[in-house]
Amino acid sequence: MITPQTIEQIKNRIDIIDVVGEYVKLKKRGANYLGLCPFHNEKTPSFTVSPAKEIYKCFGCGKSGNTITFLMEHDKLSYTEALRWLASRYGIEIEETEVSPEQKIQQQTSDSLYIINNFAQNFFNDKLFNSDEGKLIALSYLKERGFREDIIKKFQLGYNPSSRDELAASLIQHQFNKELLPKTGLVVVRNETELVDNYRNRIIFPIHNATGKIIGFGARVIGKADKAPKYINTPENEIYSKSKVLYGIYFSRVAIDKFNECLLVEGYTDVVSLYQAGIENVVASGGTSLTADQLRIIKKYTNNLTIIYDGDTAGVKAALRGLDMALEEGLNVRLVLIPDKEDPDSYVLKLGAEKFKQFVATNKKDFILFQLEIMLQEAGNDVTQKSEIVNHIAETLSKIDKTEDFTKLQDYIKQCASLLKIDEGGLTNLVNKFKRDKISKEEKKLPFEEANYFHQQNKSTQQNEDDANWILLQQDEQQERNVLRVLLEYGIKNWDEQLTMADYIFSELEQFTFDNQQLDSLFNEYKTQYQQGLQPDTKSFLYHPNTDIRNLVVSITVFQHELSLNWDKKIEGLNIANRDTSHQDVLMSVNFFKLKKIKKMFEENQRDMEHATSDELIKLIEIHKHLKEIEKELTRQLGAVIIK
Ligand code: CTP
Ligand code: MN
Repeated sequence: MITPQTIEQIKNRIDIIDVVGEYVKLKKRGANYLGLCPFHNEKTPSFTVSPAKEIYKCFGCGKSGNTITFLMEHDKLSYTEALRWLASRYGIEIEETEVSPEQKIQQQTSDSLYIINNFAQNFFNDKLFNSDEGKLIALSYLKERGFREDIIKKFQLGYNPSSRDELAASLIQHQFNKELLPKTGLVVVRNETELVDNYRNRIIFPIHNATGKIIGFGARVIGKADKAPKYINTPENEIYSKSKVLYGIYFSRVAIDKFNECLLVEGYTDVVSLYQAGIENVVASGGTSLTADQLRIIKKYTNNLTIIYDGDTAGVKAALRGLDMALEEGLNVRLVLIPDKEDPDSYVLKLGAEKFKQFVATNKKDFILFQLEIMLQEAGNDVTQKSEIVNHIAETLSKIDKTEDFTKLQDYIKQCASLLKIDEGGLTNLVNKFKRDKISKEEKKLPFEEANYFHQQNKSTQQNEDDANWILLQQDEQQERNVLRVLLEYGIKNWDEQLTMADYIFSELEQFTFDNQQLDSLFNEYKTQYQQGLQPDTKSFLYHPNTDIRNLVVSITVFQHELSLNWDKKIEGLNIANRDTSHQDVLMSVNFFKLKKIKKMFEENQRDMEHATSDELIKLIEIHKHLKEIEKELTRQLGAVIIK
């Protein structure tokens, strides 16, 4: 772990314009800088960098973050790697520290699991090549299936002997921690204390992460699997998480990058076979449907995903189900179905490398069109089902607008309309409707400034609408966000001689809660840090190790820093530009927050009154009056101009 002092030093030296400017040509626009977004294709710049806030935000694709997340996203670095990159750029010497006890245990467990896996891999490899049993049973089986020795060695395949506990005994003899061993899945506990081998008489496929460390194993029975399961896989542990595994990524990542395409197959043997045939840009998902984590790993290297599955597996449709997600991520998904009870492994052996490559090239189907064909087949002549399909496909198509590739969308509309035998113009209209729905939905979720940005484009005449009502009309979340914004921004400043802004906010909001869970926990984390005597602020949270928190803070603070001035603009007669408005900003944020909550309680109370018995009613009327009082007082404080 890098010490907080070092991180502090790095943070102080960071110049976001300098770092981002190395990748993006930036032009100054007012207080901010503008350029073409490096995360999506665009022709007019919407990538904005604020040097004051040390954040960037793309109004086209929505990506936002700080210098660190920029490096993480752009150069595919981890958090620590990004810090190290910056340290070396600014010539800062890195100090490492102790970590918290839990982190330490977690770290030690992970380290131990890697070491055990590594030991086991050597053991398996040795058994495969150097024991009579291994050579006779396992190596000969692999060779019979057509795997070459150089490829077997490259993928570090191995063999677990058939005796009861050869591996277990060796692990114990080498004094590995007995408690930890079952976690690896290599051994299992029998009769409470005895450790026996879990993968007896199986071929072993080590599974590497992208940096080449062995995180787990797949263990295949030799020959046909009659009684036992064909594969046994590593259980979930500190270093192995099934949903994040892409088998083969360590060997294929360079080729994926080079060919700008990732081939995805189902099984271990498919990967090894294709690689052996010279098709190196291949990974396997392990036969389940693709997860968001797996897509994320692929997206680090390429936007082009080609799925090669057996046409007759029942799993094929299930596997494809998650792929709308891939489209939203901007991945171009294509599909190749392997015919006649073959899988990529058997088919490449049958056809040979060249013919297989040709087959893939000529049978690549676009995923959207493929999906449409399947649905149409299933619908037959059913008219209702057909109109559902039209809607479904229009919605799918509306999701590819992110890529800003209009010709691509046009192409799709043309081809889909022709398959559906409907009018192209009609489909275009429907797609646009879904796009509009989506935008207005997203707009509702946006904080003030961003919503404004969208409004400005077609709504400048409505500037005069009742500003205060507009503020109150926004979702509760906006009021909640605003409180967090001022807390993060001004919390440690003085409210008056005795209190800080944070003290004031905490005492004012003591009786209220946040509806949004994330905001609530951010509020509480701030409070905890504050009460521990730390000096939390936007910056310290922008460098929070937890990605979710970082993103939340970015979304709260990005370009809202001018909001305090907007308060002034929104309130007639209070023209106090050019002076510190933090005090007023806090007051307004707190009061609007309270007002919104009170109004809500008021409405709830009113609803209760409609169904109340006469006894209850007396009490409810009291509450009604009380709430009205508070509302009046808050309204008075906010200025009579604002709320009628
Ligand atoms: N799989 C698994 N557990 C099983 C069966 C399958 O984890 N009991 C996963 C494995 O990752 C396997 C993939 O699903 O590689 C595909 O399964 P399958 O097609 O049955 O195996 P193949 O990889 O084709 O293996 P082989 O060619 O040796 O039959
Ligand atoms: Mn197979």
